[in-house]
Amino acid sequence: MGGTDLIKPATPEAIAEAADAIRRGDLVAFPTETVYGLGADATNDRAVARIFEAKGRPHFNPLIVHVATLEAARVHADFDTLAEQLAARFWPGPFTLVLPRAGGTTLSLLVSAGLDTVALRVPGHPIARTLLDACDLPVAAPSANPSGGVSPTTAAHVAEGLGDKLALILDGGPCRVGLESTVVAIEGGRPVILRPGGVTRAMIEAVAGPVASAGGGGALRSPGMLESHYAPALPLRLEATDVAGDEALLAFGPRAPEGGKARCNLSPSGDLIEAASNLFAMLRTLDKSGARAIAVMPVPEEGLGEAINDRLRRAAAPRVG
Ligand code: TXA
Ligand code: MG
Repeated sequence: MGGTDLIKPATPEAIAEAADAIRRGDLVAFPTETVYGLGADATNDRAVARIFEAKGRPHFNPLIVHVATLEAARVHADFDTLAEQLAARFWPGPFTLVLPRAGGTTLSLLVSAGLDTVALRVPGHPIARTLLDACDLPVAAPSANPSGGVSPTTAAHVAEGLGDKLALILDGGPCRVGLESTVVAIEGGRPVILRPGGVTRAMIEAVAGPVASAGGGGALRSPGMLESHYAPALPLRLEATDVAGDEALLAFGPRAPEGGKARCNLSPSGDLIEAASNLFAMLRTLDKSGARAIAVMPVPEEGLGEAINDRLRRAAAPRVG
């Protein structure tokens, strides 16, 4: 398997090496509490372009820029009162704000893919924070997987998909949240969820009142939200209540049907936090099981279930390209 020799435990020396690589314009994979990121200097057009090249990602899809602090974020985007409130509540954490680019920002235009907004996040993972401090740069980082594939929640997943394209992979163990950050824009003074993720709708509503969802022909959509995404190689059968002998079962909760060629349970106790953290790794495991398809049991549409179901629907959608 290519790239496993690039995996380094995230010692202070390895983090310093990663920071040097980012300052040189190279690509580094690093852990965040959501998923592993494919990081590059967000002020360097060439470095950002290499992210798109490595992922095979369409250029119209903008990237999340990671910074160490809210103060650093304010240099690059214009925060209104609501943005300040949301940032104060959810940073550091699995939360991304899409805001107007600030006049004086040095961010590459490519991270915004031609939009006049930028997506910013202060991650909570100690290794990500130490790396951001060490390189003293805003770091553009999409999930560290080839475009359209399943997001990586371990260093080994990163090596599998992108190993030969990176300077190094900082290993911080499995990601705690396991789902990408919630992406929120502000429209008409209200938050709009562009992508459900690690911070739930209810958590945002507790701060900001009613929240709108993107889509449904609304003006604001997340350009990265292609219908088919997070896709394993095998087809998915959603809302499954049984499993055929040649199918693999992705179960949820205590009442999983018997049978199947292979099986994983997102959370035998029905805990949505545990399920989110297991989702991508279990999809990868079942994808390699030699089954004909993956049968997925229903997951309740509450709390983190909204983000889990969003990823499952995308994984099941007809493939594009
Ligand atoms: O948890 C995460 O968010 C991970 C970790 C590494 O931080 N990153 C991640 O990045 O998932 P990426 O590039 O795979 O997803 C970025 C999402 C896409 O849905 C993209 O369309 C949206 O954020 N986005 C970025 N900039 C935007 C902008 N200016 N306007 C609207 N949506 C934007
Ligand atoms: Mg991604």
